[in-house]
Amino acid sequence: MRPADHLPDILDHAWSLLVRGGADRKSPVHTPVVCSVDNEGLPHARVMVLRKAHRADGTLRFHTDARSPKVAQLDGRAVVVLAYHAAEQVQLRISGTARVLTEGEPVDGIWNQSTLFARRCYLAENAPGTPLPGPSSGLPAWIEGQQPTAEQIGPARANFATLWISVTSIDWLHLANSGHRRALFRAGDGWAGAWVAP
Ligand SMILES: Cc1cc2nc3c(=O)[nH]c(=O)nc-3n(C[C@H](O)[C@H](O)[C@H](O)COP(=O)(O)O)c2cc1C
Repeated sequence: MRPADHLPDILDHAWSLLVRGGADRKSPVHTPVVCSVDNEGLPHARVMVLRKAHRADGTLRFHTDARSPKVAQLDGRAVVVLAYHAAEQVQLRISGTARVLTEGEPVDGIWNQSTLFARRCYLAENAPGTPLPGPSSGLPAWIEGQQPTAEQIGPARANFATLWISVTSIDWLHLANSGHRRALFRAGDGWAGAWVAP
């Protein structure tokens, strides 16, 4: 059920979906599409796992391989994050500014708290997108199908990056036979929000 036609409640609803998306792997908001534009102006989109949404500081956190093409496309640039929650019939279009952090706290803490299995993908020998001579996970043969030890995972740390999105606007769209609703919230107007045509 959607919130009442009251902008502060709609903003609360949008953030509650994001916060839940960061915490609950069963939420459809856990795997939004993150969109970027490369230096030639070409658009790119990919699914990423939303690791954490912090309402208090207005940020979303994702993890990625520091060698992946998206890092250069995103760092310091405008970004759109798109999620659709089918059960709630809500589309969220989040605009923001991206920042990629690879060193220091809190990146070290996040790395150390990740499971060894989660950290294993950062052992991949080549950057994501590198052509391969045949089908392969990209992982070294010695770690295929195994959990690395804390010692074995050490070199993978250099490939780990965190992506932080500072949210600048939230476009909330609810579809319903009884009447669609759409509201746009912007940091620039103090998140007061405004109704817009769906
Ligand atoms: C369900 C799902 C979750 C994914 N989560 C991530 C993620 O958290 N981080 C990431 O870098 N790529 C993730 N990917 C892979 C990306 O969609 C993408 O294929 C890859 O990162 C290469 O993107 P790029 O070439 O735009 O850098 C995920 C893919 C799927 C299908």
